[in-house]
Amino acid sequence: MAGVYCLKMGSHYTVLLHESIDALKIQAAGCYIDATYGRGGHAALLRPQLGPAGRLIVVDQDPHAIADAEAKYAQDPQVTILQGNFAKIPAHLRALGLWGQVNGILFDLGVSSPQLDEAARGFSFMRAGPLDMRMDNACGQPLSERLAGTTVAELTRILYDYGEERFAPKIAAAILRAWQEGALQTTLDLSKCVAAAIPAHLQDRHKHPATRTFQALRLWVNQELESLEAILQCFPDLLAIGGRVAWISFHSLEDRLIKNRLQYLSQPAALPRGLPILEADRSLPRMQMCIKMQKPSATEIAENPRSRSAILRVAERIG
Ligand SMILES: C[S@@+](CC[C@H](N)C(=O)[O-])C[C@H]1O[C@@H](n2cnc3c(N)ncnc32)[C@H](O)[C@@H]1O
Repeated sequence: MAGVYCLKMGSHYTVLLHESIDALKIQAAGCYIDATYGRGGHAALLRPQLGPAGRLIVVDQDPHAIADAEAKYAQDPQVTILQGNFAKIPAHLRALGLWGQVNGILFDLGVSSPQLDEAARGFSFMRAGPLDMRMDNACGQPLSERLAGTTVAELTRILYDYGEERFAPKIAAAILRAWQEGALQTTLDLSKCVAAAIPAHLQDRHKHPATRTFQALRLWVNQELESLEAILQCFPDLLAIGGRVAWISFHSLEDRLIKNRLQYLSQPAALPRGLPILEADRSLPRMQMCIKMQKPSATEIAENPRSRSAILRVAERIG
């Protein structure tokens, strides 16, 4: 793997590959988690660095990603494959007896290129697919059911909060009108409806007009920010002292949550003088920032333009 800059697994380019895995400082006998396996690009660089006592746990909620992991690692006794939401990792680690013993965790958030590009998954605004957008289509409600149960006010809030979409009220009203008229059958119908709701002269020429709406709907359907907030609350407890966490995020909503949590955990608790120290404050794990913020190189962005919005942050548990 040495010397490889960009790695493409099927249709998925692995983002910030060397930067993130190098920052985890892999120990041959360590225990590592790839919490968002995808097509296994990061796992493929990490696994060969483990010696006979090393262990890798790979997690993804998408059954297609898990099928890929099974094809590559089902026969590998040092690799454990878990399908499910990464918010459930703490429960798995307790069951495996590995609580507080993990030396590194990688989160490469969001969706993979196969998810975006395969029309049948229902994420694409360029190709006609079902109104689904679930990463795990055995759980939760597809987009069509979500739309059936929502109101213009709620949809407007979702487009503002998860898509930072300034035309949220117009788009939400147009989507629900088209939905009630039976005119939204596919993701292509949806993207055309969104584009028609935004005045042509105010559309960004460099971005498809449905980009923000599709991002918001995807975050809503998969409850992505809720999962991220849940794991941000407890990930330090999973790590051994000296264990590291690497986060790769693709939009400001995720990055803000990660940055704020890492900053909070990296600062000594500022307690007012004379007040008793609460047990909860004393026992809070402490982290130290290792990489405050790193973006892909110009070479990586030129090869894989989808990487341009990626941000890597890395921290180490110190107490
Ligand atoms: C950007 S891709 C990861 C790509 C991978 N690092 C690679 O190089 O092949 C993100 C993956 O995380 C998964 N994912 C996103 N949110 C998740 C969550 N809350 N729990 C588990 N898996 C999740 C998606 O299904 C997707 O396969």
